[in-house]
Order: sequence, then structure tokens, then C-alpha cells
Amino acid sequence: MPDRFRNSTLLHVEDLYQAFGGKVVLDNIDLSVAAGELVTVVGPSGCGKSTLLRIIIGQDRPAGGQVWLDGHQLDTPNRERGVVYQHYSLFPNLTVLDNVLAGHRLRGWPWQKPPAEACELAEHLLAKTGMDRHLEKYPHQLSGGQRQRVAIAQALMQKPRILCMDEPFSALDPGTRETMQLLLLELWEAFGMTVFFVTHDLEEAVYLGTRLVALSPYYTDDRGDGDGVNRGARVVVDRSLRPIGTAVSPRIKTDQAFAQCIQEIRRDAFDPDHRQHVSTFDLSHPHSWVTFTADEVRPAESQAAE
Ligand SMILES: Nc1ncnc2c1ncn2[C@@H]1O[C@H](COP(=O)(O)OP(=O)(O)OP(=O)(O)O)[C@@H](O)[C@H]1O
Ligand SMILES: [Mg+2]
Repeated sequence: MPDRFRNSTLLHVEDLYQAFGGKVVLDNIDLSVAAGELVTVVGPSGCGKSTLLRIIIGQDRPAGGQVWLDGHQLDTPNRERGVVYQHYSLFPNLTVLDNVLAGHRLRGWPWQKPPAEACELAEHLLAKTGMDRHLEKYPHQLSGGQRQRVAIAQALMQKPRILCMDEPFSALDPGTRETMQLLLLELWEAFGMTVFFVTHDLEEAVYLGTRLVALSPYYTDDRGDGDGVNRGARVVVDRSLRPIGTAVSPRIKTDQAFAQCIQEIRRDAFDPDHRQHVSTFDLSHPHSWVTFTADEVRPAESQAAE
């Protein structure tokens, strides 16, 4: 087990690399998430947010590095990680209730009725997501927000150790999106969930998260900027937003500190003209750490000798 593992660590990602066709996308990602955190992940489009999420849910294998969940090293997808995508993952030919039970049906009894306790849990989750009056409807009879409610219930049905969400509310209109944000916060509190939430919306990230992680390819290191440098996105910001267990109100969106936090993250992660050196990133979250390879950060003497 990695040295940096803590008792409270649920997810541990260390020295993670991913590359496609020779282009590095994720470059030496280090991240530890404690149980109960709601981590929001932002970064410029194409920087590798979904790539990181796919590795965490075990859908893709990384080119290098390690991922641990609950003390076990991951390689294949399993039910410890539930996932909700922007585009609905519902089966069009199944009712709302059957969609939530679909995992059970796929696992053993496609033609039989699932056990009573599974049906009870599905109905409970659909009640929690406000869908109990729509159990017999089909996905085409639901609004976008309602479909995402069912998708969340479907993911929670697997009792995941971590709920991974990839821009789950991005296709929704602003009012529905706000309602879904409140629903997520309610469920997170009620079930004591750990959530890994990818979004491209900074306001959503700063509002929802207990912790914000920004990935970005816009930074410098001691490798310089020559043609041969094949640099991918790193964690350039990892900061606490509020303590776990504290409530959040939509009113914080009008606070000056909220606007300032957004401005800082926009500058540090999204502005190609603002490139910090790897040694100066805002990694102020107490569980944050960073490893450098020898060429990313070289001792001053070796640089002076060149
Ligand atoms: N299977 C793949 N094969 C080849 N290239 C890929 C593959 N998956 C992702 N990429 C590339 O990796 C980079 C990161 O993609 P990714 O989808 O992770 O970005 P993202 O941060 O989620 O972007 P967005 O905010 O637009 O969703 C992109 O350049 C993308 O084209
Ligand atoms: Mg993406």
C-alpha cells in the first residue's frame, strides 16, 4: 500500500499518467480523497477530466501509476464505484422502477422478479430522488431533470463506495440544474456519500464542493517549453472549500469570497497566459501532496551547470 495512505483515505491516485496516440493527457496526477468528501473537479475542455474519471471507475486502464479504493488496487470496473453521466444512462424500454432495478436483473434473474428487499430499496431511492409518482413511466415520458433523478437512484442502488459524476447537470436548464444541485447535496448528507463530481462550470464547482481540484495543462516546470516536451494536465489547484458536514446555501453565490475563489481558479487553471511553475501551485488542501520527477523539478545546481 502507498506510504501516503491515511486511515480516512477512500480513493488514492498516485503518479497517474494517461496518454493517447503518444500525446500525454494526464501527467503525474496525485490525489487522495477521504470518505465523505464532495470533490468537484474542473479544468479546461479537453484537459482530461473525463479521462481521469474513467480510470477511477475502472473503465480505462492508465498508462502509468496506481489507483486504490478502500485499500484495494483497482483494475476492473465494479460496483464500488457508481457513475452518472451527462447523457442519460437509462434503458428506453424499461420503466423507471425497472431501470433502477436493472443492475439486479442483469446480475442474475433477467426474467424473475428481483428480491423484495431490492424492490424496497429501489422504491426508497426513487422516493428520495422525488420520483416515487413516476415508477411505471418510461424514460421518453420524463423531463431531462427527471431522467437524471432516475440515473442517480440507479447509481445509488449499487451502494457505491464513491459516486462519480461526469457533468451530470450540464444538459439541464438553469432552474432544474439548481434543483438537482440541492438534491445532490441532500442525498450526499443523508447517505454520507463520497462524491467525485466533474463539471466545467466553476460556479457549480465552488458551490457544491467541500474540496475543489483543478486540472490544467497550463503550467511550467523545469522541462522548459521545447518541442520535445510532451506535457499533460496536472492538478494545479487542490483546495478546501468548506468543512465536511457543513451546510451550504445558494446565498453563498452572492458572497465576495465566492466570486474571488472563482476568479482565482479561472486564472490558475483556465488562463493559457497564466502559467505557474509546478512548485507554486495552490495545493492547500490538507490531504494534497505532489510528486515530481527529476526533470520536472531539478535542483538549482544542475540547472546552473547547463
Ligand atoms: N479513447 C481516446 N482515444 C484517443 N484520445 C482520447 C480518448 N479519450 C480522450 N481522448 C483525448 O484526451 C483528451 C482529454 O479528453 P477528456 O474527454 O478527458 O477531456 P475533458 O476534460 O473531459 O473535456 P470536456 O470538458 O470537453 O468534457 C482530449 O484531447 C481527447 O481528445
Ligand atoms: Mg469530459
